[in-house]
Amino acid sequence: MTILEQEETTMQEQEHSEYETAPAEETSSGRSATPQAMSDHTLVGIDLGTCRTVVVGADGQELEIRSVVGYPKDIISRQAVGDGPLFGNEALEKRNFLDLCHPLAEGVIRDASERDYQAARELIHHLVDKIKENSNGERVSGIIGVPARASLMNKEVLLKVAREVMDTALVVSEPFMVAYALGKLNRCIIVDIGAGTVDVCGMKGSVPAPEDQVTTFKGGDYLDERLEAAILRRHPGAQITRSLACRIKEEHAFVGEPERPVEVTLRVEGKPARFDITEEIRTVCESMVPNIVEQVETLIASFDPEDQEETLKNIYLAGCGSRIRGLDRMLANALHDYGDVRITCVDDPERIGAKGALKLALEVPPAHWPEIGLMFG
Ligand SMILES: Nc1ncnc2c1ncn2[C@@H]1O[C@H](COP(=O)(O)OP(=O)(O)OP(=O)(O)O)[C@@H](O)[C@H]1O
Ligand SMILES: [Mg+2]
Repeated sequence: MTILEQEETTMQEQEHSEYETAPAEETSSGRSATPQAMSDHTLVGIDLGTCRTVVVGADGQELEIRSVVGYPKDIISRQAVGDGPLFGNEALEKRNFLDLCHPLAEGVIRDASERDYQAARELIHHLVDKIKENSNGERVSGIIGVPARASLMNKEVLLKVAREVMDTALVVSEPFMVAYALGKLNRCIIVDIGAGTVDVCGMKGSVPAPEDQVTTFKGGDYLDERLEAAILRRHPGAQITRSLACRIKEEHAFVGEPERPVEVTLRVEGKPARFDITEEIRTVCESMVPNIVEQVETLIASFDPEDQEETLKNIYLAGCGSRIRGLDRMLANALHDYGDVRITCVDDPERIGAKGALKLALEVPPAHWPEIGLMFG
């Protein structure tokens, strides 16, 4: 078993809470034997997502947090929850006391307001500080995933924030991190279905070029918006919010033939009532299929014709949107004109991106990071 596999096993064995950390001793032997692991540095992989941010460390630490920051609304709220800010699930649980800020939109720091920038900054500081705390204040370096087609400005803003808390950081595209985690660097297509974006990336044996990657914005957030509207249209009296629609989607999302009717309890003027929303869920989830098929078709055609047959057998769905039941089958059916198409949902879609970033950080010496993407340090 390689050092990396040992570390990944350690990570998989952990139980998951919002913050997950493993004592450094558990993997300390792995760290010292890794050539790139500098003795006073903790190497990390970070997947900064619109919905959740995941950090995995070479020392076995693992943090997973909803990408949300909450600020107390007023003096009364401050008495209840302190000066803040609060992060992740704690912020969501105490949301009545807080102004909530989701600082990442479409997978990058929103550039609309100073508040979003500050919230993103606080979120990144909070996570890196936690890693430092758990590793006795060691310095932190690592690789951060961003959407496949994030702009240069998006990447520079992120690096500006990272520079305040990290020694060295490199930004790379999210689907590339997934491909790296899978060890599928050639004749392969990754489809990463996140909350803000769907990133599609063709792997052709090297760091993917901009033309081998596409980012579209019809991810999970788009489905939530459509589901909320569809339920309201069909059942005008039902009380439904975006976050409720998201919870319903996460529990019931499917495409194709339903296994059973989807019935949920919603409130009408405060009273609970049952609603059948099978058709709404199905229509909304299926609305993302044509877009993904179109992007995959465009990428397939860009591969060397001799590579296309194998590439079609190596299509991987990642991101938590890959959990939509039946999506792999429906995408494969939509591509049946191409011959034998195999679509696989990755295990552990939450953390595979961050694990890939860490694997890359461990296996490629920082001296070569400039060949991969934008960095500092
Ligand atoms: N079982 C499920 N079925 C369908 N969608 C799901 C399921 N579980 C989670 N999701 C959705 O997946 C999305 C989150 O996926 P992920 O954590 O990969 O996104 P992210 O990395 O934060 O976003 P991005 O990559 O766009 O910045 C959310 O829209 C969430 O509601
Ligand atoms: Mg993501």
